[in-house]
Amino acid sequence: MGNIRIGNLKLENRYLLAPMADVNDIAFRLLCKKAGCGLVYTGMVNPLTKQELILDDKPALQIFSTSERGVEEFIKKYEKKVSLFDFNLGCPAKTAKDLGFGSFMHDKLEVIENILKIMKKSTKKPISIKLRKSDDALKIAKIAEKYCDAICIHPRTASQGYSGIPDIKFAEKLKKNLSIPVIYSGNVNAENADEFLKTFDFVMIGREAMGNPEIFAKLQGKKIKIDFKDYIALAEKYNLKFSQIKMQALNFTKAKKNAKELRRQIVNAKSVLDIEKIEGLFS
Ligand SMILES: Cc1cc2nc3c(=O)[nH]c(=O)nc-3n(C[C@H](O)[C@H](O)[C@H](O)COP(=O)(O)O)c2cc1C
Repeated sequence: MGNIRIGNLKLENRYLLAPMADVNDIAFRLLCKKAGCGLVYTGMVNPLTKQELILDDKPALQIFSTSERGVEEFIKKYEKKVSLFDFNLGCPAKTAKDLGFGSFMHDKLEVIENILKIMKKSTKKPISIKLRKSDDALKIAKIAEKYCDAICIHPRTASQGYSGIPDIKFAEKLKKNLSIPVIYSGNVNAENADEFLKTFDFVMIGREAMGNPEIFAKLQGKKIKIDFKDYIALAEKYNLKFSQIKMQALNFTKAKKNAKELRRQIVNAKSVLDIEKIEGLFS
């Protein structure tokens, strides 16, 4: 696939794991990498978090913030452990609305520029932003072009959330106006990914990868068998919470024949052992 790069970061391919808060834990990200994902993103993290991050897989680390506070320190702390720093300008959640971050800070062009400036000054790693569609998105992208190595667009408005049709024309317009790589996100699946790559430099896979890390192998015409046992082994290695393992188990029922019954058993499970006893969840 030639020389594939975001800034100074070399990638094996153009299929990326979209940032998904709660879903993209270290165990899940490692499985996506094993299946051949070009770059895995963490879910959004606030620089003021007290929680120690597990970044053994060198992911792209996504930051959300309403101000410059703590950004420099945070980047310096994790600089050696990540492949790229991304800034979230897409979160449509109520907390984002209440606190004014993600897609609710699009009109704060100066704050955005200051944050990106600090990010650029604080690291030699590539920087990207992830945007939703808005009246200011193009203006933001043009500012970001000065500091960033890539821009990701999920062309739905904040009020669309995760449903409704992504405005692909809007994403194309952004691509036409920018000189840095553009990553497309929104309803990408194993069938349409390469079509998007005719226009965009990279694609991100979100919901289609949930419970299905194998999609990254499929996209490259490869076969790999990833079993929920693989997830459990990694989750135990990294001491992930039982509630997290349960949530991922529910995701992994997606393609199973008797998904409804499997989900009922997962919901009732009281321990990892209970989950391991569920017939049909493992192959
Ligand atoms: C459960 C979930 C959590 C998400 N968390 C984030 C996040 O932390 N940061 C972000 O930029 N986007 C987040 N997204 C949006 C995805 O990255 C992606 O842009 C969106 O889901 C559309 O892509 P898809 O159709 O492939 O899922 C999240 C999406 C889902 C479903």
